[in-house]
Amino acid sequence: MKTALVAGGAGFIGSFLCELLLEKGYKVFAIDNLVTGKRENIEDLLKNRNFNWIEHDITAPLHMNVSCDEIYNLASPASPVDFEKMPDFILKTSAVGHLNLLNWAKIHSAKILLASTSEVYGDPLEHPQNESYYGNVNCVGIRGCYDEGKRFAEALSMAYKRRYGVNIRIARIFNTYGPRMRPEDGRVIPNFFTQSLNGQPLTIYGDGKQTRSLCYVTDLVQGLFSLMQSEIETPTNVGNPDEYTILDIGKNVSLACGVEFRTKSFPLPENDPKQRRPDISKAQRELEWQPKVSLREGLASTLEFFKRSQNK
Ligand SMILES: NC(=O)c1ccc[n+]([C@@H]2O[C@H](COP(=O)([O-])OP(=O)(O)OC[C@H]3O[C@@H](n4cnc5c(N)ncnc54)[C@H](O)[C@@H]3O)[C@@H](O)[C@H]2O)c1
Repeated sequence: MKTALVAGGAGFIGSFLCELLLEKGYKVFAIDNLVTGKRENIEDLLKNRNFNWIEHDITAPLHMNVSCDEIYNLASPASPVDFEKMPDFILKTSAVGHLNLLNWAKIHSAKILLASTSEVYGDPLEHPQNESYYGNVNCVGIRGCYDEGKRFAEALSMAYKRRYGVNIRIARIFNTYGPRMRPEDGRVIPNFFTQSLNGQPLTIYGDGKQTRSLCYVTDLVQGLFSLMQSEIETPTNVGNPDEYTILDIGKNVSLACGVEFRTKSFPLPENDPKQRRPDISKAQRELEWQPKVSLREGLASTLEFFKRSQNK
């Protein structure tokens, strides 16, 4: 039986990844300090005897006497509200936290995957974004803590590969959505669902013509698993290339909720990316992976989750 450690396992994406790994027959250790994750995300998994839960902050060294085949590092606050609340902790998690996990991977000869982000491309001047693009990031802007933290973590992964031969993977994840997102986390999908279900107009920043490409979470975690099983040790985009304007996303959410599409405009936040679409030809070619869930299907399952959360 293979063993996987999932840092950030009680988070939105992490909890889906733990589920997938258990389905694949892994013994799973989920590590999380619950700074943005929730215990209820893994409540069902706690009944599985192959699932082990460890409450721990990865910025502290990990003393765990188990061998491990694969480490997935998804631990990091990732929402715009977090960038304002805990910028220094985000940087520390990407730097010291990832360093601790890389050292652990080195000791255990484990493979280690970093959940990086499309934010390493910043407000991109190339479209769509291919892995060879170096990005356009404002390191001193409000999003700098997250973007530069992930860029540092990518560089650290490459340093450990070159210097110590650690077996690394770097997934550049694009906007992902689905059940278990925090309703209050400030990202477009939770915002639009919460507002639609409460009869409020949808918040549109700027003219709403900026674009996002949304990947449903079950597709995303399949992509992360395939990348871990591959031999690719260079950054790889994982996301859904179907691109929508924010206004289109709002219309689709309103339609899913059966409410009238109404909006309220606010100024565009600093350094908000205007266009986002992954070039996933590398993942398609080398992992034989591509997303399968349509926006309509994904929004329907997400709606059920937000309705249940409202009734709690
Ligand atoms: N959701 C997206 O659209 C998206 C896009 C690109 C990249 N990512 C990356 O994927 C990962 C998961 O994102 P998510 O959307 O599931 O966010 P999330 O906040 O739901 O999950 C992150 C988890 O990490 C935990 N965590 C944070 N700092 C920690 C620390 N120091 N020690 C231990 N645990 C810690 C949190 O408690 C949380 O459970 C993040 O690394 C994020 O940067 C997400």
